[in-house]
Amino acid sequence: MRYVIVGTGNISNTYVSALGKLAGCELVGAVSRSGRALAAAPDLPIWPSLAAVDRAFDAVILATPNGLHHQGAIAAAELGKHVLTEKPLDIAADAMATMTAACKKAGVTLAVCYQRRTRPDNIAIKRLIDEGTLGQIYAADLSAKFYRDQAYYDSGDYRGGYSLDGGGPFMQQACHNLDIYTWLFGLPQQVVSMLGTFAHDIESEDHGAALLRHANGMIGTVVASTAAKPGFAARLEVHTEKGSFTLTDDVITQWHVDNLDNPAQPGKAYHHDGATSAAVTDTTAHEAIIKDFEQAVEDNREPLAGADSAKLTTELILKIYNSQKPI
Ligand SMILES: NC(=O)c1ccc[n+]([C@@H]2O[C@H](COP(=O)([O-])OP(=O)(O)OC[C@H]3O[C@@H](n4cnc5c(N)ncnc54)[C@H](OP(=O)(O)O)[C@@H]3O)[C@@H](O)[C@H]2O)c1
Repeated sequence: MRYVIVGTGNISNTYVSALGKLAGCELVGAVSRSGRALAAAPDLPIWPSLAAVDRAFDAVILATPNGLHHQGAIAAAELGKHVLTEKPLDIAADAMATMTAACKKAGVTLAVCYQRRTRPDNIAIKRLIDEGTLGQIYAADLSAKFYRDQAYYDSGDYRGGYSLDGGGPFMQQACHNLDIYTWLFGLPQQVVSMLGTFAHDIESEDHGAALLRHANGMIGTVVASTAAKPGFAARLEVHTEKGSFTLTDDVITQWHVDNLDNPAQPGKAYHHDGATSAAVTDTTAHEAIIKDFEQAVEDNREPLAGADSAKLTTELILKIYNSQKPI
């Protein structure tokens, strides 16, 4: 497919690199309000808007701030182009509903780059949970303790604000981990949270914790941070009727489940810049998301991270924020 990227900042470089590794993918150019070229492909054309693009293309990649994804998706749908948006789907319920409706009406695919869903160990765990093989899930404890310095927040005047970033680490960095949580366990019925701003001059939280109660009785805990120096691997510890296991950065690192072999893929370990940096240099999961996106278009099926399931992640984050704003 032929792509136009909207936004020429940090994550656009990951797409230039990922598309370059995939046969049959062509990057046509990019959209930038300021006319800034793609750092990783400086010779490609830049247009001020999607409507101004004067070359043939099939799909749009949205690499703009979180709260602008609905605008980009609606503009792409009006042009009849498929949409792969960076995460989150968007930051508000009405924005997510409008963009989803626009893409459905136009008959174009809308996918979200929740790339951790492509990791084999996460897929293996999802299968076991969906099949009921692990029995009742008692508890899931997610720790997403990352670090960003003030210079990161100062690198964009929207960073760490509610209007465009949609919040702090829960919406921006840990949404990937919360996405795996909602993908595996669904939305909780009850949320109690405490959020604080400790290490940064920002509007949103930079650290917080939430207690989650699900309809089936499962109790979840979630800690998300960009104040946890120097930044740690993300951990998800799950306790079930059949036993317990831990995923560390999408890899099963502990497995104590009765009568069931560890489904971990041997030799897998991923480089995660995310604990300390906004850059994504390991492009393998973005490549997998792009491949799934193209297959979903071809097969006219839901993508691995389609809008209907990705919206649950934003809904969970909003529940956490609405339970308590930072003090
Ligand atoms: N999947 C992942 O692992 C991952 C990692 C990092 C980021 N992301 C996501 O990627 C998206 C972009 O993040 P980023 O780190 O690339 O951001 P960034 O470096 O700030 O780039 C944002 C781009 O959006 C454009 N833009 C358009 N309207 C804007 C506005 N009103 N304010 C600010 N910028 C605007 C800017 O270009 P012009 O001003 O020239 O138009 C800029 O190039 C976000 O949704 C983020 O959550 C995903």
